[in-house]
Amino acid sequence: MCGIVGYVGPKHPSDVVVDGLTALEYRGYDSAGLAVLVGKRIELLRTVGRVQGLRELVEKSDLSGSQSAIGHTRWATHGVPSVTNAHPHANTDQTIFVVHNGIIENYQEIKSRLQAKGYQFASETDTEVVPQLIDYYVKEGLALEPAFKAALKDLRGAYALLVISSVEPDTLLAAKLSSPLVLGIGDGEMIIASDPLALVEHTKKVVYLEDGQVIRVTKDTYHIENLAEEKPVRAKVELLTDIDGTTGKGNFPHFMLKEIYEAPNTLKLATAGRVHAHEGLVKLGGLENVAEQLRHIDRLVIVACGTSSYAGMVGEYFMEELAGLPTEVQLASEFVYRDEPLSRSTAVLAISQSGETADTISALKKVENYGCLRLGVVNAVGSTIARMTDAGVYCHAGPEQAVASTKAFIAQVTVLLLIALYLNNGKTEQYKPLLEELEALPDKAAAVLSQAKHIEAMARKYAMYRDFLFIGRRYAFPCALEGALKLKECSYIHAEGYAAGEMKHGPLAMIDPNFPTFALACDSPLLEKTLSNIQEIRARKGPVVAIATEGNKHIRKLADDVIYVPDTLEQLQPVLAAIVEQLFAYYVAVAKGLDMDRPRNLAKSVTVE
Ligand code: F6R
Repeated sequence: MCGIVGYVGPKHPSDVVVDGLTALEYRGYDSAGLAVLVGKRIELLRTVGRVQGLRELVEKSDLSGSQSAIGHTRWATHGVPSVTNAHPHANTDQTIFVVHNGIIENYQEIKSRLQAKGYQFASETDTEVVPQLIDYYVKEGLALEPAFKAALKDLRGAYALLVISSVEPDTLLAAKLSSPLVLGIGDGEMIIASDPLALVEHTKKVVYLEDGQVIRVTKDTYHIENLAEEKPVRAKVELLTDIDGTTGKGNFPHFMLKEIYEAPNTLKLATAGRVHAHEGLVKLGGLENVAEQLRHIDRLVIVACGTSSYAGMVGEYFMEELAGLPTEVQLASEFVYRDEPLSRSTAVLAISQSGETADTISALKKVENYGCLRLGVVNAVGSTIARMTDAGVYCHAGPEQAVASTKAFIAQVTVLLLIALYLNNGKTEQYKPLLEELEALPDKAAAVLSQAKHIEAMARKYAMYRDFLFIGRRYAFPCALEGALKLKECSYIHAEGYAAGEMKHGPLAMIDPNFPTFALACDSPLLEKTLSNIQEIRARKGPVVAIATEGNKHIRKLADDVIYVPDTLEQLQPVLAAIVEQLFAYYVAVAKGLDMDRPRNLAKSVTVE
């Protein structure tokens, strides 16, 4: 969703900020803007559409001698995408400019209060109340920073805020509450951003701000305070060792395809140093400090959203089958508002690629005082969720930039399997074969990728259908849900995932020659049952595309089209099937001429509820 970058220092501030916003483009946005301090005046540049448009505005403007700048990519929440609604927003005198991620929940109330005092508003956004409120306190006699703090105390909701003002030209002010913000400490320069990816090119020394903190930054100094107590905070300076600043597509036409093709490497990275098949060992350093506590856990609640929740569902089967641990997956947005009793022997495991998903963060916050162990399976190193949890295992999939999650799903499933095996500690017969198969899996993933042309042809054949059903049983059931989500978000085709056994309980009514089904029918003890479901669909003239295990000739007689994947253990089939589904969704989007890297209405990192 929205992205924030601010810079103060000797480089061209507008270039640093626009480059930073470019690195955050993958998050999804609909407009972009910049406020640049030049001498005593602030230049405002805003545009609807891509950051490239903003870059062109910068090139056309005279910004020489500028000292600092703040910029923003906006994903519309309050008010349509338009130049007027794009950030930065300013007070009427145009002396205080603000960019904001999050939502100010009580903005109507503040707006009415200010309107009653004669303030006028230009945009429909919630954000505009912030510069106006700071202005109000400045006019009441406060200096800029105390006015900022006074304004913050009036706000309810979630925010990462960055302020620039001609009143104090060399200073940036920022604050954080439930929305990420990181300070990059350079040599005679400072950069603040909502995501370390935006600053990693300039410095690797960072401070992650905590909720309730306010920061004042000049090019050489930073001062962090706790808003509630107004006491200085000693910041922990960390080094960004695991973040790769490379954000290009390489030779691929789209990020999504590049990331799908990273599957074999993703599997290697997720297991590197963790799986020791010869010794029959799984080592998870991230869980070492809670190993004792894990022994006393009798229930696991997995909280996540979207694709991460489907990875969690695969994990649910792993935990039950391999670790004997009663497990359930809850959508984070529902978990937050349920009144279920949770005991101290329940662990809560958050799964998140970005580590910044607002609902998942709220789910973790909800159990803050319950005494539950909070675990994380996170991809983005140093993200909010990674830092909120007591322990966890990183996915190590590297930055994922296409909106549709692909390699992260594969890494999440792999890491969840490792956790289940770690808890199992060699007790099950499947332990060693699974470890060995994990080592063989990257080559099998590469074999699936080598069928891209066949899958592309299949996608072209089915691209013009309006509806699609995905079905599977056991491990293939969450995979069916994930396949449907991938197709709908990339191609805007209505798609539903179902447990194959549910067909007769309703969905079969939809089947006709215009309603194809994607059947996940790899070898498993339940294959015959899935084949019966396929028969039932064919009997109603529904077209069927099947994913099957290499060597299954029989399925050719049942399905219209078959995509074969290498033989693997049932627990690992979701990884191979997911690659097929991802390629299928990708090529359907290509056939329809859609931008699958940035599907309409969606954002990569969903930082508002
Ligand atoms: C779908 C997709 C989303 C995310 C969801 C959670 O392809 O990417 O459904 O999985 O928004 O995001 P994270 O994993 O970042 O918490």
